Amino acid sequence: MTLFAPSILAADFSVLYDQVQLAEKAGVDWFHLDIMYGHFVPNISFGPAIVKTMRRLTDKCLDVHLMISEPDRYIDAFIAAGADLVTVHVEATVHLNRTIALIKENGAKAGVAINPATPVHTLADILNDVDLVLIMSVNPGFGGQQFIPNVLRKIESAAKLISTCNRAIHLEVDGGIDSKTARMVVDAGADVLVAGSAIFGSGDVIEAVHLLRQAVGANEV
Ligand code: DX5
Ligand code: ZN
Repeated sequence: MTLFAPSILAADFSVLYDQVQLAEKAGVDWFHLDIMYGHFVPNISFGPAIVKTMRRLTDKCLDVHLMISEPDRYIDAFIAAGADLVTVHVEATVHLNRTIALIKENGAKAGVAINPATPVHTLADILNDVDLVLIMSVNPGFGGQQFIPNVLRKIESAAKLISTCNRAIHLEVDGGIDSKTARMVVDAGADVLVAGSAIFGSGDVIEAVHLLRQAVGANEV
């Protein structure tokens, strides 16, 4: 089963409530929240206050993607704001094992992300502690970038690695997902698709989710 997690980075914040409603009506599974503050990535998005707002707007899983250095300093704040799942970058924390433990101690599910140039084998010794692996298919920092095709090979390797664990671990892909690339990443083994521009940038949220579903052969809800 493929899960759809629209990134609200591309949403119109002046009508956030309506955007969330439309996405829910279209049958999305999670909401993906991209957190940036100019250190790990050259952009600034939003912080716990918007996560808290989203928590009031939806009961869906809030999938919080921390693109920040020293994530340990903010994990409790994001979970207190309502994050269900918190994903940190391998490249952004020195003591990854401790960071993942901190997420779980605070009561959320934990994910680990890698950038396009970071090898999949860096995940091997943390896999048993996480609920989700996120493979970035663009360099993090901005919505609307082009999918990097080399990442397909990495998705396949990550799927293989995950299949060696006897646990359910989601394999999420983020960046440049549209109806063409969605099919490719699902064929490579991904089960959670993040899409910002393709959904909220499309002008018709319901039609956009329908097209993505159709592209991967997922049943309509
Ligand atoms: C990129 C973010 C993505 C982004 C995806 O740094 O992590 O979640 O919002 O946007 P699109 O779908 O437009 O590539
Ligand atoms: Zn993201």
